[in-house]
Amino acid sequence: MRDGSNHRTDQFGGSLHNRARLPLEVVEAVIDVFGADRVGYRISPHFQNYSMNDSNPHETFCYLAEELSRFNLGFLHMIERVGEPMRVAPGARFASIIRSIFNGTFILNGGYDADKGNATIQKSEADLISYGSLFLANPDLPERFRKNAPLNTPDITTFYAGEERGYIDYPAL
Ligand SMILES: Cc1cc2nc3c(=O)[nH]c(=O)nc-3n(C[C@H](O)[C@H](O)[C@H](O)COP(=O)(O)O)c2cc1C
Repeated sequence: MRDGSNHRTDQFGGSLHNRARLPLEVVEAVIDVFGADRVGYRISPHFQNYSMNDSNPHETFCYLAEELSRFNLGFLHMIERVGEPMRVAPGARFASIIRSIFNGTFILNGGYDADKGNATIQKSEADLISYGSLFLANPDLPERFRKNAPLNTPDITTFYAGEERGYIDYPAL
């Protein structure tokens, strides 16, 4: 739906309303199969690679969040990185605005550890925090968080290597 990638001239391109049409139709179709409470939606508004870009991600994704609120979805999940790489500068963040617009469970993601995650939930900036690379590197991540135990460091070179190494071989505590 991003105007930097979507160059359609039919009813799925041009205005924000039109660009949001396709994702919203997809959500409707998926809800018809699974039921709204079993459907979640993920947005990555700050991501600008692989030919994806938008002249005004704030406006685009606030509109989408508002439209998604009609469906009573299971959750909305947003990546807005607080850690390197690709950390989003504080002045460019709008997760709290998306949270205030969206009417359901709001999950944040992107460079969190246990402390940052807890602080964010305590400030009511998200309902939940999700963990990606830390979970890859720590098969027992919840237990480590509970015990305040040291964490294995994710090995970035294995992330997109296309084999099991880096996915099933990190040691548990
Ligand atoms: C190996 C790997 C593959 C990923 N693949 C995708 C993907 O296909 N689509 C996507 O939206 N995000 C993908 N991500 C991003 C994660 O979903 C997550 O947003 C990101 O890792 C930030 O969270 P973290 O800091 O807890 O790892 C991937 C991340 C990793 C580490």
